[in-house]
Amino acid sequence: MENINRKFNAAVTAVGQFFPDEVLDNKYFEKIVDTTDEWIRTRTGILERRILRNGATSDLAANAIKDLMKSSGLKPEEIDVIIVATVTPDMLFPATACLVQEKIGATNAWGFDLSAACSGFLFALKSGAALIESGGYNKVIVVGADKMSSIADYTDRNTCILFGDGAAAFLLEPTTDLSIGLQDSILRIDGVGKDSLYMLGGGSLNPATHETVDKKMHYIYQDGKTVFKFAVKGMADVSVEMMEKSNLTSEDVAFLVPHQANKRIITATGDRMGLPREKVMINIHKYGNTTAATIPSCITEYYRDGKLKKGDNLILSAFGAGFTWGASHLVWSMD
Ligand code: COA
Repeated sequence: MENINRKFNAAVTAVGQFFPDEVLDNKYFEKIVDTTDEWIRTRTGILERRILRNGATSDLAANAIKDLMKSSGLKPEEIDVIIVATVTPDMLFPATACLVQEKIGATNAWGFDLSAACSGFLFALKSGAALIESGGYNKVIVVGADKMSSIADYTDRNTCILFGDGAAAFLLEPTTDLSIGLQDSILRIDGVGKDSLYMLGGGSLNPATHETVDKKMHYIYQDGKTVFKFAVKGMADVSVEMMEKSNLTSEDVAFLVPHQANKRIITATGDRMGLPREKVMINIHKYGNTTAATIPSCITEYYRDGKLKKGDNLILSAFGAGFTWGASHLVWSMD
């Protein structure tokens, strides 16, 4: 365990989420690209996803935090820090965190955006927890939010069927009970992933020009097979490593909370950890891959369905563009 020298752990004390109302089911994609409902269901596990027509990532994030505030009574002026994990910021600058701050009226907060793609929430959780553990902050919001429809190419069947829009948020607060909250994390990056999952246009390497638009460089490109291979191994290895580092057996783990990119990757990870299917959180069928939002939205839904209890050992696990990947051991702290 990492917590031997800590005075505080970061505990999750409130949750919230937001998904837009508009649903795109698999039949919709049969009309716009060469695919079938059957292919999408069997190869990915996705049945439908949500799409935000009007508005941006900051709206998704702000709505998730408003849901958190409504369910917990947290007042916006109490928030010390807002960390927004996203790869679809409203714009390159200002940071989405600033736009969210204004939308929710968090008048005493500072904050920043964190770019780690599908591992963004795990990286944000660790960063937020470190601020809490430092003793300097009492109320840190970590929110995973992505409007993936803004960078998906709806003429490319390889990618457009995979993604959806959504956001989910946690409130982190200090606790002196070191048996609950974020216990430990194993986080990794490897730039070898730059060749198989990326969006080339719009940054300092390829600023937007007519040419970058003509070449569709402002859309997601993914070499699905390569990413799949890295993801299956990366997520399973790091999840098992996290269990072993925390001295947890499969009986001790209440739930694996995997990033929701592909049901086959999720199942393989659960199997490697020796977990029965009912201990593996899943909501990919409803929302597709919402990038930074998948892990906190799974937890929010399972908590609200009464499936989580205080003291439950959760292993959170993700793999994404970069490559970025990792796992965290979180002990649930809400009744
Ligand atoms: N409908 C029908 N056929 C499709 C299709 C679609 N929507 N998308 C791809 N195909 C085709 C491919 O063109 C390919 O055809 P080909 O053999 O004639 O070239 C065939 O299906 C098989 O492609 P393949 O890449 O082997 O499929 P797959 O079983 O690996 O599934 C993904 C594709 C994208 C679902 C899968 O690779 C995946 O989930 N990758 C990892 C995603 C991930 O974890 N990302 C990280 C975080 S974002």
